[in-house]
Amino acid sequence: MLSGRFTPGQPLPSVRSLAAQVGLSPATVAAGLAELRRRGVIITERRRGSRIGEAPPIGPRRGTLPLPAGVRDVSRGNPDPALLPDIEPALARCAHAARLYGEPAVLPALSALAREQLVADGVDAEHVCVLSGALDAIERVLHANLRPGDAVAVEDPGYAALYDLLRANGLRLEGVAVDDCGMLPEALARALDRGASGVVITPRGQNPTGAAIDAGRARELRAVLAGHPRALVVEDDHLGPLAGVALESVLRDRERWAATRSVSKALGPDLRLAVLAGDEQTIARVQGRQACGPGWVSHILQSLVVELSSDRAVHALLARAAAVYAARRGLLLEQLARHGIDAHGVCGLNVWIPVAEEAVAFAALLQRGFLVAAGAPYRLTSSQPAIRVTIATLTDDESERLACELARVLATSATSRSG
Ligand SMILES: Cc1ncc(COP(=O)(O)O)c(C=O)c1O
Repeated sequence: MLSGRFTPGQPLPSVRSLAAQVGLSPATVAAGLAELRRRGVIITERRRGSRIGEAPPIGPRRGTLPLPAGVRDVSRGNPDPALLPDIEPALARCAHAARLYGEPAVLPALSALAREQLVADGVDAEHVCVLSGALDAIERVLHANLRPGDAVAVEDPGYAALYDLLRANGLRLEGVAVDDCGMLPEALARALDRGASGVVITPRGQNPTGAAIDAGRARELRAVLAGHPRALVVEDDHLGPLAGVALESVLRDRERWAATRSVSKALGPDLRLAVLAGDEQTIARVQGRQACGPGWVSHILQSLVVELSSDRAVHALLARAAAVYAARRGLLLEQLARHGIDAHGVCGLNVWIPVAEEAVAFAALLQRGFLVAAGAPYRLTSSQPAIRVTIATLTDDESERLACELARVLATSATSRSG
């Protein structure tokens, strides 16, 4: 595949004809294919046979190209560094007693804090553990409950890194269409009826569309999920205090469930820390597996998170950050609307802008000084082409310029299509 001879989605011949082509027995070929399936390189479905995975997990998919001079990068989904707390004073306050093997994996102060926040969000916090970020937590929850070849319902459009993670674990993706209130209940019902045994849901600041689940949608989604009591449901709240809207959880009375609370957006992605709550069995399995590998998340990081989260000045900064992000997002949406451009961004750090031709919009904006994220990695089959703009550090002036340039790009591509 590295040589390009095989492409994502390419169908594979039957075991029998492959065996004849390579001169091996069908049993040997079947064993080889089973191993490739286990590693997520190929996908097998009863009716469609085997094919190369959509994005086989062989090396990074999105390389980092050097940014051309003078180009503004609004593609990365990062928070504004100016709105992250200064960790130095908090680090100085952290207790530095040497911690050795054999201590409890989670600092009691952090589990108390996490419990308080989870309960305030209406999430059961009886069983919690601490992991290295939301994706680490999600991967471990999936490992604890699903097997390669299982299908997972995900938002479409959705978080590209989550798609990669699922594919790398040999899981199949069942796209669920979203609107500004998150997953559409009927689309989720279809994915579950098609056999999805897991669901990953972003309650607010959905990446890339910014959708936020309101009370009515949460009720509808819970009703759909109630029809599938064995399905694993994972809720990924990556924005936390920056969301600016209340969390409406779809997790209630579930048998197998988990909720992640990452500190990446609020306190900084380099802290690599997320709290995970879940049912007793899932948390026990995740903790047991973590104990065999890294053991625990460094207590230095855990106490830093406790210090930061208990600091009034940090609370004030986070409230300001939420307001600044909302204002930056609002301004870009307003500027786009002035040019008649429809866009999405109820909440969070991104604005999602549908366009007729993604590659054209991406390339033309790059020429005009803006690197946006092309929508393709964030889309499966049910969503339309689009680009994503991260508003985290966008100034008023840049917002106006970006909207203006995009309007020109869209007008030009419409004219050239009709010409
Ligand atoms: C939907 C979603 N989940 C989680 C994360 C962050 O994950 P982590 O805690 O692994 O940094 C992001 C970051 O952009 C995200 O968009």
